[in-house]
Amino acid sequence: MPSQTIIIDCDPGIDDAVALLLALASPDELDLLAVTAVCGNVSLDLTERNARRVLALAARPEVPVYPGAGRPIMIAHHGATVHGDDGLGGVPLPEPASAPQQRGAVDYLLETLAGRPGEISLCCLGPLSNPGLATVQRPEILRSTRQVVLMGGAAGRGNVTPHAEFNFHVDPHAAQLVLRSGAEVVMLGLDVTRQAPITEARLRQLAAVETAAARAAHDMLAFYGQGDTALHDPCVIAYLLRPQLFSGRRCWVDVETLDEERFGQSRVQPVSPYGQRQANALVIDRVDADGLFELLCERLARLP
Ligand code: BDR
Ligand code: CA
Repeated sequence: MPSQTIIIDCDPGIDDAVALLLALASPDELDLLAVTAVCGNVSLDLTERNARRVLALAARPEVPVYPGAGRPIMIAHHGATVHGDDGLGGVPLPEPASAPQQRGAVDYLLETLAGRPGEISLCCLGPLSNPGLATVQRPEILRSTRQVVLMGGAAGRGNVTPHAEFNFHVDPHAAQLVLRSGAEVVMLGLDVTRQAPITEARLRQLAAVETAAARAAHDMLAFYGQGDTALHDPCVIAYLLRPQLFSGRRCWVDVETLDEERFGQSRVQPVSPYGQRQANALVIDRVDADGLFELLCERLARLP
């Protein structure tokens, strides 16, 4: 029986797609209840459809995909270019083998998390608009999760502006709501994901895996690597599968939503026993990148 029950909230997106494949290839450890889609890298109609294409590639069309927020909570949406026009680098993944769900992601999260208190790890790979909107409706809802493991933020340099990381910058108000929600948050930001670059050697390692899923992951990452070399989102799933590959420390984290220049910046402060601030997140700052890539290759070999 899988040891962890998860929901993946994402905006595929190439590295989101690879993270989904890693989760789908790990049914012994992870029971994936559903995917919830959000606008982010590309528009919601594309991220929702791309999620279903990834599920078709992994021959897991029974996993439901719920469409979520079509825009950030308070501001206009801006996408990313590194994932190509379709969000998957133009790599020909199969057409979806399932229909979209009629029900919205926020509704689904509210009911499912409340119905299984303390059981579900919510894995967030995109802007945090869906869980953010869920907390607007029910402020205590994320405390029903086992944990929220998210890719977002940076203690150091940003990637959209000198200060801000993409997922936090797209919807900083949502990121703030999640960080202030009282949930157990594990944050994997740029400080850690940049330690796992997609190198030529790693692309060759992936090319040697002879499955359709590995071939698609290779082709997507080869495209992605021209614009961003860090393997961001798969770090979240790898953290659930092999936490021993990662280390971090408990910190106080908040997000800048007022100062224009630092908009979306995460403010990360280690917590001192003498200070007044309480930690609200485990901030991961180290990964064994070779271990991460070995895990990815080993798992992609298990898919069709
Ligand atoms: C994050 O931004 C997106 O482009 C990636 O999918 C990842 O979630 C990295 O900043
Ligand atoms: Ca993403």
